Amino acid sequence: RTARFTLDPAFTVGAVNPRLFGSFVEHLGRCVYTGVFEPGHPTADAEGLRQDVLELVRELGVTAVRYPGGNFVSGYKWEDSVGPVEDRPRRLDLAWRSTETNRFGLSEYIAFLKKIGPQAEPMMAVNLGTRGVAEALELQEYANHPAGTALSDLRAEHGDKDPFGIRLWCLGNEMDGPWQTGHKTAEEYGRVAAETARAMRQIDPDVELVACGSSSQAMETFAAWEATVLEETYDLVDHISLHAYYEPHDGDVDSFLASAVDMESFIENVVATCDHVGARLKSKKRINLSFDEWNVWYMTRTQAEVSVLDWPEAPRLLEDNYSVLDAVVFGSLLIALLRHADRVTVACLAQLVNVIAPIMTEPGGPAWRQTTFFPFSQASKYGRGEVLDVRVDSPTYDTAKYGEADLLHATAVRAEDGTVTVFAVNRSRTDALPLEVALGGLRLTEVVEHSALADADPDARNTLAEPERVAPHPVDGTALDGGRLTAALEPLSWNVIRLR
Ligand code: AHR
Repeated sequence: RTARFTLDPAFTVGAVNPRLFGSFVEHLGRCVYTGVFEPGHPTADAEGLRQDVLELVRELGVTAVRYPGGNFVSGYKWEDSVGPVEDRPRRLDLAWRSTETNRFGLSEYIAFLKKIGPQAEPMMAVNLGTRGVAEALELQEYANHPAGTALSDLRAEHGDKDPFGIRLWCLGNEMDGPWQTGHKTAEEYGRVAAETARAMRQIDPDVELVACGSSSQAMETFAAWEATVLEETYDLVDHISLHAYYEPHDGDVDSFLASAVDMESFIENVVATCDHVGARLKSKKRINLSFDEWNVWYMTRTQAEVSVLDWPEAPRLLEDNYSVLDAVVFGSLLIALLRHADRVTVACLAQLVNVIAPIMTEPGGPAWRQTTFFPFSQASKYGRGEVLDVRVDSPTYDTAKYGEADLLHATAVRAEDGTVTVFAVNRSRTDALPLEVALGGLRLTEVVEHSALADADPDARNTLAEPERVAPHPVDGTALDGGRLTAALEPLSWNVIRLR
């Protein structure tokens, strides 16, 4: 059976915020050390930043880059990470049982962002695990105050005369999780988040603040946590965070392929909770969503890795190697975010390099693209504009976790110049999916390109030995005739169809 939908310029979801294509650099494993930063590497610049990695980061098209954690931030002492490198202390990183050298710190992070280009924006987290209001304010003063105070002058003394201008701040990380250093109840966190937010706005009323939501929809405290935290912080914050990671459980690939069903319901449930609190408070303000950690992560495989660590520096941790199957699920997660672009105004792919990442490196060696690199770079390149409301009529399949799920998952984005890009995933493991799209009033006449990521071997991956085994390929036969688009989506495929 054919899957169908209609695109009409009159029916839109909302504009895509460029921050939807954010990512995340945590002091975890080799994300920073031998990832983005490796003095002595043949491609390293004077500041130790790997140019081969920077080139791939630019090609990936990331915008906001969240830093420095993650779980790491709940033990983070920002002042350890600034000033002369030789004076920076080595510290225990409790989150990842590693030793943090602080060789890379705040100033290096800002330098990294500048080198990515003007599209890159800082998104800084403050430590509300082992620290509180005072330290958040000190960090804000050091980072953003122009001059003439102890901490802003210290920044200048450290070589950064110009303020960093960090606008977007996360009030802690995953404070609902019992694994978090300084884990809190919703009431405790709501209070400290409100106090911190109020004080940070005293320095600068224009900061944008993200309160911690739930670490996943499966958390026992989910939704009650958001409601309690927002009752305390509603007028003081702009966004609430969501985190979600997906992997196949007990070999259940069919449910894994439908992971976006969970992601979309998670988003819709958080929107409902935010709006419920807004209604209770009789507020006209709308809280938006910061999906600031999302990805495929074989978490159950890596949990044991951390517990046996004996405080190494930059160990190989969470270095998942992604298959074509993973990339198709990943693409579907991107589609879920775009389909909710009206409320998801920030999203961060966790993470950027080596740690559950689209970019991999070898110390002293090359950098390469994982399979997941491609859906992200294509979505970031062609997914800018207005999301069109896509309601699919699709054949379905059975999943153990989510019941009947659509075989087709899709969205479409209309760019300012009127061109339209359809992003579509075929979840069938066995069959090609015929697709028909009625283009109504869009006045499109031409298929510019249909590209697909799919492979006869869904387990195919890019590796150090074979870094270019998987890449998107062009698809023939996609046609646009009399306002009707027809295509065949290969089994288990991520598709980008560009129309003008
Ligand atoms: O991204 C890896 C970890 O996942 C982060 O440190 C934490 O916030 C989440 O649990």
